[in-house]
Amino acid sequence: MTTSVPQVKTAEEFKAQPEEYQVAVKKIVISHAINELQGARVFDEPAVALAPTTYAKWLTCRIAMEEYGHHWRFYELGKTLGIEEPRLVPETAGKATLTVFDYPIKSWEEFVASKLLGDLAEILQAEDLLHCSFLPLRNLVRSIMPEEKFHHQFGRDFGRELVQSPEGKERLQRAVDSFFPVIPPFFGKAGSKNNEMYRRWGIKLRTNEAMREDYIARATDACEALGLKLPPAGLH
Ligand SMILES: [Fe+2]
Ligand SMILES: [Fe+2]
Repeated sequence: MTTSVPQVKTAEEFKAQPEEYQVAVKKIVISHAINELQGARVFDEPAVALAPTTYAKWLTCRIAMEEYGHHWRFYELGKTLGIEEPRLVPETAGKATLTVFDYPIKSWEEFVASKLLGDLAEILQAEDLLHCSFLPLRNLVRSIMPEEKFHHQFGRDFGRELVQSPEGKERLQRAVDSFFPVIPPFFGKAGSKNNEMYRRWGIKLRTNEAMREDYIARATDACEALGLKLPPAGLH
């Protein structure tokens, strides 16, 4: 869907936009601020203790650092838009349903699966904002994209190591089986009114359904490249 919205370059210009535009951008910034912080807390920081080698610990620390950094940048952008602090952090934002973040990782294999599949979902979400009409958000997302790609590549690289042995491959397959089904719902409901609003204002590009379908295709490729199988998404 194309948009008649002009490009919005600054927080000042943002505050002169129609109410609905402001609400839509704020919803996206809040959801990214919260997801980045929850991911860093639930997956990345605990994984440093699970990493099997000093090399793996180093790269896992780097991922944790980057994810906390992503949260911080969405948080700061949110503050410039006038979003109050409690809405930008998970403990006070409030949520109605269980999400991927309600399943803390318990093993190195689960962390590798979370990078392989969870960060692939993050890449798709970021790609959808690369042409966002609110330029500070577009630019933020463009700047973190190389880091998200590194996180997914980390999943591929350490996944490649694990599948060298039959036991490692089986453990990773089990981690994929338990982690994957919680991801597709993360893309939101089919026919979502919020998604329609984001596209109407040139904030996001694609429907939830199109993103989920693309995600499942790319997740299938990522698993097959390691000789693994993607379990059913539970939604189809
Ligand atoms: Fe991130
Ligand atoms: Fe990431």
